[in-house]
Amino acid sequence: MPRATSIFLLFATSQLLFRPISSIDFVYNSNFTTTNTLLVGSATVVSPPSILTLTNETTSTIGRGLYPSRIPASSSSSSPLPFATSFIFSVSPFKNRLPGHGFAFVFLPSSDTSAAESAQHLGLLNLTNNGDPSNRIFGVEFDVFSNQEFNDINDNHVGVDVNSLTSVSSSVAGFYRDGSQFTELRLNSGDNYQAWIEFNGSAINVTMARAGSLKPVRPLINVPLNLTGVLLGDMFVGFTAATGLLVQSHRILSWSFSNSNFSLADALITRNLPSFKLRDDSVFNSKGFIAGISVGAFVLLVCVIGVVFYAVRRRRRLRLEEDGVEDWETEYWPHRVQYRNVLEATKGFAEENMIGYGGNSKVYRGVLEGKEVAVKRIAISPREGVAGTSEFLAEVSSLGRLRHKNIVGLRGWCKKGGECLILVYEYMENGSVDKRLFDCDVMLDWEERMRVIRDVASGMLYLHEGWESKVLHRDIKTSNVLLDKDMNARVGDFGLAKLQNTNKEMVSTTHVVGTAGYMAPELVKTGRASVETDVYSFGVFVLEVVCGRRPIEEGREGIVEWMWGLMERDQVVDGLDERLKVRGRFEIKEVEMVMRIGLLCVHPDPRVRPKMRQVVHILEQGRLSDDEREREGMEVSLLERMKSSYLLGTSDGRQQQHPTFLDVWNSSSHSNSFRSSSSIFLGR
Ligand SMILES: *[C@@H]1O[C@H](CO)[C@@H](O)[C@H](O)[C@H]1NC(C)=O
Ligand SMILES: *[C@@H]1O[C@H](CO)[C@@H](O)[C@H](O)[C@H]1NC(C)=O
Ligand SMILES: *[C@@H]1O[C@H](CO)[C@@H](O)[C@H](O)[C@H]1NC(C)=O
Ligand SMILES: *[C@@H]1O[C@H](CO)[C@@H](O)[C@H](O)[C@H]1NC(C)=O
Ligand SMILES: *[C@@H]1O[C@H](CO)[C@@H](O)[C@H](O)[C@H]1NC(C)=O
Ligand SMILES: *[C@@H]1O[C@H](CO)[C@@H](O)[C@H](O)[C@H]1NC(C)=O
Ligand SMILES: *[C@@H]1O[C@H](CO)[C@@H](O)[C@H](O)[C@H]1NC(C)=O
Repeated sequence: MPRATSIFLLFATSQLLFRPISSIDFVYNSNFTTTNTLLVGSATVVSPPSILTLTNETTSTIGRGLYPSRIPASSSSSSPLPFATSFIFSVSPFKNRLPGHGFAFVFLPSSDTSAAESAQHLGLLNLTNNGDPSNRIFGVEFDVFSNQEFNDINDNHVGVDVNSLTSVSSSVAGFYRDGSQFTELRLNSGDNYQAWIEFNGSAINVTMARAGSLKPVRPLINVPLNLTGVLLGDMFVGFTAATGLLVQSHRILSWSFSNSNFSLADALITRNLPSFKLRDDSVFNSKGFIAGISVGAFVLLVCVIGVVFYAVRRRRRLRLEEDGVEDWETEYWPHRVQYRNVLEATKGFAEENMIGYGGNSKVYRGVLEGKEVAVKRIAISPREGVAGTSEFLAEVSSLGRLRHKNIVGLRGWCKKGGECLILVYEYMENGSVDKRLFDCDVMLDWEERMRVIRDVASGMLYLHEGWESKVLHRDIKTSNVLLDKDMNARVGDFGLAKLQNTNKEMVSTTHVVGTAGYMAPELVKTGRASVETDVYSFGVFVLEVVCGRRPIEEGREGIVEWMWGLMERDQVVDGLDERLKVRGRFEIKEVEMVMRIGLLCVHPDPRVRPKMRQVVHILEQGRLSDDEREREGMEVSLLERMKSSYLLGTSDGRQQQHPTFLDVWNSSSHSNSFRSSSSIFLGR
């Protein structure tokens, strides 16, 4: 900078002093090119017209489109620079593919994606750095998936993210008409939407509307925001998106950005833009006269169907209104069933149809639409009220989509005024594992117990890793594992623990939710449920199934302490259910292996507990294939070590040098007696 300019700046008015040293502004009106845009990962420019396309149909990719060079994000005194940006975007599903995952407008310190993951992490952060203040990442997410782990409000929201995918503020996507009436906009409808983001140095506004509409006066999000230390130095600015198992395309049609002229958004062309709505093109591709006629016929048919559909819908709507259904409720999946049908199915909740109860809920057997179902009726405590219920239902709606052979499927739900909530599940012919363990008439034999353990492990693996977002069960126990008619064990009641905190056997302080005896020590202490606390409950479950003994029994040591004791004396096999010992049909090596898995899962240090994936591998396969070995990398070496000690009982000298496992082991701050029991892991 020439000296004269610097001197001029020094003498300028105070207002000038606080102005950015160098301001930047640019406009892309569908003129993205490979030279004026930095394309990372799956991002490409598709022309004509030249549109930034962040993702394609490939699963688990990250795509970023950024301004080609870093721009100044803070002033010389390190205070974040104000900015205003506006862009037109389209998020549209692919034909015959389940749609998922959103995108974000971002400020990033670096363009490379090594610290980011795909799917629900939006190509922005990864599992370990999420929430880390040293990330220096600011974003505004437009997300179409409800991720429990990030406290997402629903599956169609806009959120302000600072160094974390747990938004500091978020709102359902949409706009306020005339300053008050809210209209939701479905982000992944394929429609073109315009978004405006304005940051004045201490507060942020996020606004959106259909492209071509005027900017709504009232912003969707309007919150104070301190970006000191986040917007710092020179940074990349642009867009990031990701696909997971679910895919959809994310397109940016035009974009303006400025940190001096807040009206630059007006320079965007918002009309006559291409449309990316998914349509059934087979009809529109047809050529010629015959095609013309068939289109005509089709249109007529569509009209007729439309009228019929409308009439049916209208009738249904009226019926729903009768039931007091609010609009949002019909959005949820699985679908709402009618209370009167449930009444009919259970013969008015007749006592003779009751198959179980606990706390504030009762379970009835019934027949709905010709299929046998289990109906769970949960009384809503007035304290929680409707707000708590709709929150819970949002969760049920995402849980309802879970499908796995070791998970009890949710078929529907309904609500009766403010009194109770009704969940309809698949009927499980053979009752709960709890009943099968402690009722001698129908007691499970060893083979069946092994199968139950394997099934539950794979059901939990699905909850933790198989679905797009991590789902915590929060209340694994023998009474929540049910057996279907083929004796497959299925995990039920996931997520319900939150709502059932009046159950008498539940320990419930302000935040802690779970069942006494199954709760990990750190859960009791902090109230924070995690994958590791689920693994702990699974460990107790395994021990309970193998020992045929409840986790807590009056006047006896808890099952975990008791088993640790046996292990220290090298007598784990003695813990086996006495009734099985009498019958004598079990594999002693298998008993030993399962006991050790159980014990490892209830390790007091959550970091030492295995992941469900590792448990499943040990249970399902004696050996791992070479492919898996490569894929799983380090984890396998830990697994191999565990396995060699479990299965072969041999000690391998090289183990002693394994950093991860031994580091963790040695740093675990537990009693010596505990550490001496390392023999179970390292072999003898
Ligand atoms: C895109 O086109 C606009 C004119 O509509 C022009 O002002 C702008 O500089 C172009 N942007 C880039 C990045 O080339
Ligand atoms: C989609 O993006 C991926 C990752 O960049 C790339 O390898 C693949 O070829 C692209 N697929 C299509 C159909 O363009
Ligand atoms: C996440 O990113 C950080 C850098 O921010 C990196 O150190 C870490 O290894 C990454 N974690 C994973 C699991 O990829
Ligand atoms: C946000 O919008 C409100 C209401 O229109 C306005 O008063 C305020 O100045 C805006 N703030 C920013 C940071 O643009
Ligand atoms: C930024 O906007 C907020 C309202 O959105 C206002 O309260 C605040 O004073 C503004 N800050 C500056 C520096 O203009
Ligand atoms: C903003 O945050 C920084 C550090 O993160 C802090 O020093 C500063 O006081 C905060 N400013 C306001 C206005 O809260
Ligand atoms: C800000 O941008 C608008 C829209 O392009 C333009 O009309 C206006 O002249 C600009 N103002 C300044 C001060 O550059």
